[in-house]
Parts: sequence; structure tokens; C-alpha cells
Amino acid sequence: MVLIPYFTDYKNVPKAYAEWIKERENSKDISEKKGASIEHYPGAKNSPRRLVFYCFGEEEKIQSKDIRGGIARALKQIRKNAVPEVGIVLNGQFLKYSQGIGEAIALSNYNKSLFKTGKVKKEEAGKMIKKVIIISSDADRIQKYDLNEGVKIGLAVNEVRDLVNSPHNVVNVETMVKKAEEICKENQIKYKVLDKKQLEKLKMGALLAVNEGSKDEARMVMMEYLPLGKRQEPIVLVGKGVMFDTGGINIKPSNGLSEMHMDMAGSAAVLGVFMLLKELEIQQNVIGIIPLTDNSVGSRSQKPSDVITSFSGKTIEVGNTDAEGRLIIIDAISYAIQTYKPSAIVDIATLTGACMVALGDQMAGMWGNNEKMKDRMRNAALETDEEVWEMPIHAVHREGMKGKFADLNNIDVPTAGLAGACTAAAFIENFIEKTDWIHLDIAGPAFPKKSKDVDFPGATGFGVRLLTRFLQNIK
Ligand code: BES
Ligand code: MN
Ligand code: ZN
Repeated sequence: MVLIPYFTDYKNVPKAYAEWIKERENSKDISEKKGASIEHYPGAKNSPRRLVFYCFGEEEKIQSKDIRGGIARALKQIRKNAVPEVGIVLNGQFLKYSQGIGEAIALSNYNKSLFKTGKVKKEEAGKMIKKVIIISSDADRIQKYDLNEGVKIGLAVNEVRDLVNSPHNVVNVETMVKKAEEICKENQIKYKVLDKKQLEKLKMGALLAVNEGSKDEARMVMMEYLPLGKRQEPIVLVGKGVMFDTGGINIKPSNGLSEMHMDMAGSAAVLGVFMLLKELEIQQNVIGIIPLTDNSVGSRSQKPSDVITSFSGKTIEVGNTDAEGRLIIIDAISYAIQTYKPSAIVDIATLTGACMVALGDQMAGMWGNNEKMKDRMRNAALETDEEVWEMPIHAVHREGMKGKFADLNNIDVPTAGLAGACTAAAFIENFIEKTDWIHLDIAGPAFPKKSKDVDFPGATGFGVRLLTRFLQNIK
């Protein structure tokens, strides 16, 4: 099976085929050229059994995301017929999309039947593409394009998808710590794991309060990738790791509750980035911090109206135990500022349903205090097709998060439900001091209702491509 992508200038297909393809396209059954595929069975002795010509329309109208998505769609289609080996023609106009094509190859080859056994497991395994052969008349030029880099990124995303798709009894605090350790050992990255006793000693009151009702003890993992040594202050990535969010005593309704094992998607995305830093030789000092806990209901669970003291010393009324993500994030952020004196912080979290109400489930909300940094994030989003949209923090949002008895409240009580994504960001803002900062709310795109061409139902691995590119683009 050989996939031959082409534009409607037909430059990329062998001359002998161009006329033949045009004839097919002009026939009645192909009304829209873009996205159409035409199959040919040459039948000659040494030729592949099946050629699939896949049309991308007019080149001028194409963005890199169309190529990534189109190739993924075509490969998913091919997978349905259990084809173990696929050739892809990659030359001419398509060379510059090599990285996206590499990503598409890996992303479309995700095995989504994680827990099947027997016949179904065998069938699914049979539908994996085992080998991809790149066919190119520019073989010597292809080296300098980033095809392999794309494949590596896609494979890391697939691992993150597995983590986020796995239920709580499979992926929990303990397994996340193990995974982080594994990644760090494999890549010779220094790491530290703070256990509950150490968190108590450090007075991480916010993280510990969320952890109160849970059998699994909280952990915080720090991963230190420092290729530039002391020559550069690091960038810190903080990822929300709520392994299951029941809501706590402010318990969530049944509807959608079973998906709440995905509330660790931010921390999984940070792990995904750490799978890639060394492999892609990223020349930035980067620290990854993942605070890990469940948000459970139990006799010891924190209660609505509890007043807790965060690591920073600021006190917080717990207006709602379901606003737990911000509590674990601010302790991680304060610890990062004290320990690492970062040049910038990016936190990434499945933080609010309100962000989905505002923006839908295909893009992340973005807040931040540095225009250049936000521009860089927007550019990375455009290049990777992991979209972000900037959202505001206004005085009313800040005002709403002030506490009645304590310094802060974790929700804006009278307006709860209104601008909930913005008030959550305003809450976190209290802890970032003077550091450059971006907050990404990925509640929607981490686990959307509707899948993009490169994705499958369930977890997307959102943030791995975005943050990796963001780090790569820093000059
Ligand atoms: N983990 C949720 C947010 C979420 C909801 C993620 C749906 C993915 C899908 C978060 O901890 C939460 O419960 N947020 C509350 C905040 C509210 C209590 C202020 C929300 O969004 O309703
Ligand atoms: Mn919650
Ligand atoms: Zn949550």
C-alpha cells in the first residue's frame, strides 16, 4: 500500500498518472477534490498492490494543520483494512510538512483498545501499522527535515493519551510517580519526589487539604532538565495531577463523573514534554512539577468553609471543595518560585468546566502577564494546531476571589458559575509574584466530545505538542 499525497497542480504525482487522476476527479462521484482519495491497483509484478492518491486541494489554501490532519485521516482509513506496511511518497512540495507528517504517522497509529483481551485485542493489534516506508526522490534532502522528530513527538503524545485514558485503578498517584521516575531515568534527568511527610514538613497546606479524604497519599514530583547548567534561570512547567476528581464533599453529579480520571491531563502533558526534551535536544533549562492527589469524599475530606494555609503563607477559605485544582497548583507554583527562581512559569490544568462553556472543547483558554510570552504561545499553537485563545483577568474577577475571613476564597461565592475560568485564573495570579506566567485551562481539549482528524475519542494528549514547540521556539 502506498499513499501519494498531492495538490491540484499534480506536480507531486508521476506524469503518467496525472491525466488518469484528472479523469477520475472529473467523473461524477468526486465533487470535492480536497480530501478525496483515488485508488489504483497497478497489478504489475514489482509494483505495490495498491496506490492511494490523496488530494489536498490547492496548495495556496493549505496550512500545515491540514496536512497533519489529512495524512492522519488517510492513515486511519488505511488501518481499518489491517495493512501492516504502508509507503508514503514524500517529496517536492510536501517536504516542508515533514514534521507534521511524522506526527500524523504516530498519532493515527494509536491503539485505543487499551484493556481488551482475546479476539478483539488480536484484531486491534492487527490493525496497527507495523512499518512505514518513506518513498522520496529527495532522499538526501529529507535528512534535514524533521520527519523523525515528528514521529517522536507523536509517540510521546500516544503515551500521554494512554495515561489520561486509563481509569483510576490503573493510573493513580503511585503509577504517575513511577512513570515520572522511569522517564527521568531513561533520559538522565534529575528528579525529586516529595512524599506526604515531606509535604507536611514544608507546610504545603493547600495540596494536603485536597488530599485529606484520600487513601492514596499526595506526592509532588520535580523533574530537572538543566542542559545549560547555571547559565540560565529555568522555565517551570506545572501540571495539574488530580488523579480522580469526585468534587469532594461538594460532590459532582453522576453525569460525566466517570470521565474524571482525566483530571490529571495537565500533569500527563508535562510528563510528555519530559519524554522529549533530551531526545529533541532542547536547549532550555526546564523544570517540570506535578502535584499529585485524588479529590475524594471521606470522613476526613476537607469541608466547605474550611480555612487552610497554603505553602506561601496566604490563607484560603475553601468555598467549594470541587475547586481543588487551583489549590494544588498554587502550592506547586509557590514552591517553584522559592526553589528554582524561574524566568517563567507555565501551568497547564483541566481547571474549569466554565472554560469549556466559554470556548468550547477544541481550544485551551490562555491567561498571562507577559505579552511576548503569550505571542510565543500563540505562535506555537498555530504551528502545532493545539489552539489557545486569550482570556482576561479583570478587577471584578480579582475582587471576587477575596476571602471573607481568610485572605482568599477558592471560589467567587456570589457569582459561582459566572466567568468561572477567569476567576480561577485570578486566584492563581495571587501566587505568581513577579514571575512571567501563562495559565492554560485545558478542560475542553484534553478530553473533547468531538475528535479532530489526528485524535481518537477520549484523551488527546493536548499540550505536549504545544509546550514542546513553545520551548523550541525560545531564542
Ligand atoms: N476538574 C474540574 C474541571 C473539569 C470539568 C475538567 C469537566 C474537565 C471536565 C475542576 O476541578 C472543577 O471541578 N471545577 C469546577 C470549579 C467550580 C467548583 C468553581 C467547575 O468547573 O465546575
Ligand atoms: Mn473539581
Ligand atoms: Zn478537578
